[in-house]
Amino acid sequence: MKALILSGGSGTRLRPLTYSQQKQLIPVANKPVLFYAIEDVIEAGAQDIGIILGPNKDQVIDTVKSRDWDARIEFIYQGVPKGLAHTILVAEKFLDDDFVMYLGDNILRDGIVRHEERFRSLGSDASVLLTEVEDPQRFGVADLNQDGSIRRLVEKPKAPPSNYALVGVYFFKPVIIDACKAIKPSWRDELEITDAIQWLIEHGYKVDASFVEGWWKDTGKPEDIFEANRLILDDITTRNDGLLENSRVMGRVIIEKDAKIERSVIKGPCIIGNRSVISDSYIGPYTSVGDGCRICGTEIEDSIIMDESRIINTGKIVESLIGRNVRIQECVALPKGNRLIVGDNSDISL
Ligand code: DAU
Repeated sequence: MKALILSGGSGTRLRPLTYSQQKQLIPVANKPVLFYAIEDVIEAGAQDIGIILGPNKDQVIDTVKSRDWDARIEFIYQGVPKGLAHTILVAEKFLDDDFVMYLGDNILRDGIVRHEERFRSLGSDASVLLTEVEDPQRFGVADLNQDGSIRRLVEKPKAPPSNYALVGVYFFKPVIIDACKAIKPSWRDELEITDAIQWLIEHGYKVDASFVEGWWKDTGKPEDIFEANRLILDDITTRNDGLLENSRVMGRVIIEKDAKIERSVIKGPCIIGNRSVISDSYIGPYTSVGDGCRICGTEIEDSIIMDESRIINTGKIVESLIGRNVRIQECVALPKGNRLIVGDNSDISL
């Protein structure tokens, strides 16, 4: 089985972070979201992985190449995001075998091994992963027959036919390429994968549904990223490879190599990245501090602080998503006041 992982698209719901970084590279528990997808497809037996690239292609290539993977990786440039089915057409040459298509901004707690085995044993032409959600309008939704087979798929319906959302993982035989060639762009001018799967159903191909039991997150919006961060941190195992001085660590905490914690309290679950220095601070539950950060005289909870950022003597910070190389510090010069240099579409509560 091959794998096609989608790391294109423009990530408009995650601006301003996505002005400078591809959304699938945003870290959850200090690991790019995209890496969870790569690990899952390798665990399910994929030896050849195609990664679809969009606007920030070099960033994605550099990040993926920063680690050794137990599989061959090919990068496939899509350019303008013209829809999930369009990525299959762009990757047509690569897709000469059965494959799993995995949206690179999705995280599944239990991976996809069980679903891959089911797809292989049933010999279906396509298999979609479904899970019950409270807000089906946000997703592709399946209308199911009584026997659990799929009658119809609809993309982000105003009146959803069920609560079963399409999780962003699909198994296909290469016949899906014919389906993607046969369909027309939707009202939003995208080639929709739901339309291509619907084409398979209407032409008599066998399309099966496989139900996800553990949690699943589509990290399309900031609140989804926080939730994914909490869910992953809930499962970490304590490890301390850093240096602790006059500090107290409670609960499950990962402190990476060359990190230094001085005169501080760390309450897990949380993770402190390589080379980060925490002084005279409190780092509370569900916080991920990236590599090379400096946090001083501050309290932080339930937040993601990305690499190389500095937070010095600010008040308490909660539920915050802070990008790379950001500096937030107490104002000492006169006139006193909040001094902000903030990019477009930022969101600040003072
Ligand atoms: O997350 C599950 C949902 O994902 C499904 O329920 C929907 O049926 C499916 O259409 C998709 O909806 P989204 O609104 O989340 O799709 P989004 O545009 O965010 O794209 C999903 C991923 O695919 C994202 O990582 C970006 C990437 N992508 C997207 C498009 C449209 C590409 O690489 N190229 C593209 O052309």
